[in-house]
Amino acid sequence: MPVGIITGASKGLGRALAEALAGRGWDLVLDARGEGALKEAATAIGRYGTRVVALPGDVTDARHRTALVAASRSLGGLDLLVSNASALGAEPLVRLAGLPLDGLRRALEVNVTAALGLVQEALPLLRASASGTVIAVSSDAAVEAYETWGGYGASKAALDRLAAVLAVEEPGLRVWAVDPGDMATDLYAAAVPEDDAARPAPDTVVPAFLRLLDERPASGRYAAPTLGAGR
Ligand SMILES: NC(=O)c1ccc[n+]([C@@H]2O[C@H](COP(=O)([O-])OP(=O)(O)OC[C@H]3O[C@@H](n4cnc5c(N)ncnc54)[C@H](OP(=O)(O)O)[C@@H]3O)[C@@H](O)[C@H]2O)c1
Repeated sequence: MPVGIITGASKGLGRALAEALAGRGWDLVLDARGEGALKEAATAIGRYGTRVVALPGDVTDARHRTALVAASRSLGGLDLLVSNASALGAEPLVRLAGLPLDGLRRALEVNVTAALGLVQEALPLLRASASGTVIAVSSDAAVEAYETWGGYGASKAALDRLAAVLAVEEPGLRVWAVDPGDMATDLYAAAVPEDDAARPAPDTVVPAFLRLLDERPASGRYAAPTLGAGR
């Protein structure tokens, strides 16, 4: 059975992707800070009959990252690492003139430093896999200059750059930075609480991720709405 680690899997996109992968036979290691919601998600995802290990913790904690990879090793290895957990830097988002620098540091720590730390920890297992894959969940804010999305967007742009260089340095792996597009999740509501326009549910974005895993295109940056439209 293939094995995957998905960070931020208690709700939103991470949970929807975990459900879909479990449905396809994947064994999974899942994390989020909130223990109750993570355990509830893992129990629901466990109904597919694959092995699901739920490890509560913060991706910025190096010991937690080590534990995630150790859990994966105990499931037999690691084929897919999804860095999905994310911080906004300010909730709600604010213009750069008022962005707390500690918020920016937190966004960089969660979205960039922790993602690289997990990759570093996971590389030996990923290299040993016949289909070692890293997915960095990005955002269109990494490439578009939206008012108030500057700190978060800068962190996602840095994540994209790490993914691009990792792909060059590790040609035996697939490394995809994936922009999922707007989704109706707690993260979006926290970012822009006054924006109550209808948005796609996270599970509608998952087919684009599955398409990447099925077709295994070259490492690079992909946008889920475009991938979905290609079906
Ligand atoms: N929603 C959108 O419109 C949108 C658009 C573009 C990109 N994205 C990206 O899509 C990804 C998923 O976002 P989402 O909208 O699905 O968010 P979400 O529903 O708020 O879920 C975020 C998940 O990450 C966990 N998490 C947050 N910080 C963490 C940390 N430091 N350590 C471990 N787990 C942590 C959360 O649980 P705890 O809080 O319990 O830790 C939760 O499980 C993110 O990378 C986001 O930047 C989202």
